[in-house]
Amino acid sequence: MPKCIIDGREAEFAPGQNLIEVAKTVGVEIPYFCYHPGLSVVAQCRMCTVEIEKMPKLQTACSTAATEGMVVKTRSARAIQNQKSVMEFLLINHPLDCPICDKAGECDLQDESFAYGSPYSRYTEERRTYLDLDMGPVIKKNMNRCIHCTRCIRFGTEVAGIHEMVAVQRGNNTEITTIDGRPLETDYAGNYADVCPTGSLTLKDFRFKKRAWFLKKTSTVCEGCAKGCNMELHQDGNVIYRSLPRENMEINKYWLCDEGRFNFHYVHDQRRVLNPAIASASGLQMTDWKAGIAAAKAALAGRKVAILAGSDLTLEEAKLLLEVAPKQFGGAPVFHFGTPGIKTVLDDAPADKILKRKSKTSNLNGVEKLGIKPYAGLPAGIDAVLVVRGGRAQLPTDLDQAKSLVGIGVFNQPQVAKFAAVLPGASFAEKDGTIVNYEGREQKIKRAINPIGKSKLLPEILMMWVNQ
Ligand code: SF4
Ligand code: SF4
Ligand code: FES
Repeated sequence: MPKCIIDGREAEFAPGQNLIEVAKTVGVEIPYFCYHPGLSVVAQCRMCTVEIEKMPKLQTACSTAATEGMVVKTRSARAIQNQKSVMEFLLINHPLDCPICDKAGECDLQDESFAYGSPYSRYTEERRTYLDLDMGPVIKKNMNRCIHCTRCIRFGTEVAGIHEMVAVQRGNNTEITTIDGRPLETDYAGNYADVCPTGSLTLKDFRFKKRAWFLKKTSTVCEGCAKGCNMELHQDGNVIYRSLPRENMEINKYWLCDEGRFNFHYVHDQRRVLNPAIASASGLQMTDWKAGIAAAKAALAGRKVAILAGSDLTLEEAKLLLEVAPKQFGGAPVFHFGTPGIKTVLDDAPADKILKRKSKTSNLNGVEKLGIKPYAGLPAGIDAVLVVRGGRAQLPTDLDQAKSLVGIGVFNQPQVAKFAAVLPGASFAEKDGTIVNYEGREQKIKRAINPIGKSKLLPEILMMWVNQ
């Protein structure tokens, strides 16, 4: 591999790799704002300028490819002076409101200002100010903090495939906005907040809910569809506050769709059944585990049972169900369900040109690989159904035809109004397991929080069922 020297360190590089990326490989940090590895290079902010031997002028590291024998200095007197000047320039109009900014603690502008800027400002003129503005349901804009890096504009046109963010006016008056101030239309709007290196674009869903440094992060996989995008769940005090994309160049690169990003809210839905519950004249009544399991068993006793397994269950959970079905449920047949109209992986297909799949459960491929057949209506002679699901699989609409219904897993009150018993299980955020995405890639989901309320993991529930 060709080699260059960065701050005295020998670095190997692939042809075409830019100096920012090459420097990272040898532990040298070059500060930058407008560069993003998933977007085109525009070399606008000038923060990444470095000195290169035999070149009279400073060069932008984002737009300069390393070449054999190149000698780069990122901390020379000229490079440092330029970093300071750029920081001063970028902060001229900035309100310096980190203490009340939602991005504080994870803001590139704050970090680089601290590391490369000057603690003093020579600016005495009045700063330009704008009111905070909604940009639709996902993003709130604070133009006071914008440094005009254009990452948001490029994300829209290059990744989301929609030219909805634009820069209007010029110079001191430059403003990022949507065309005619219209709400953002893309289903990938959350990524605007991710790519923004300042607190200019923030998620309405998350802003002012929790300081970034309190959040504990768990690397996991989205269960919003069969794509299997990699994500982080951020929680504090057993409450999930947000999910962010996790880089996986083979699946989702740097992005998440909004459906997947905000999917975690069902975990904390007020209507979620979090106690064992049994049917009564006045609707579902909360009870304890012993009574819940007894009622569930009684509801299935003496009947011909079918088990409906959500294709949102992990491989481990689905395997366990197949193992216990012959002994505990009289050899009940097991079928999978999850997305109306998508019975097998052959029915699944891209739902857009970016990430989304038509199958809205994460493990259709996995349950199919285990040999579980798709649900196609109640088989003749079956009069009771045990539904087991992780939380996202959509219940079939013909369940009413069964004389007796029992649920294990994640359900909301209205969904189980006709159930004889519900035993609360764990959502994707509350358990570990394996899921298989649309292309057959096995991935691990990780427990980010403990099961909420009295809910339990499926192996625990089945163990109690067997032993009671
Ligand atoms: S809003 Fe954010 S991403 Fe867009 S130009 Fe301004 S600083 Fe850059
Ligand atoms: S495309 Fe699917 S897996 Fe990816 S973030 Fe969206 S819902 Fe989740
Ligand atoms: S990151 Fe290179 S000019 Fe902005």
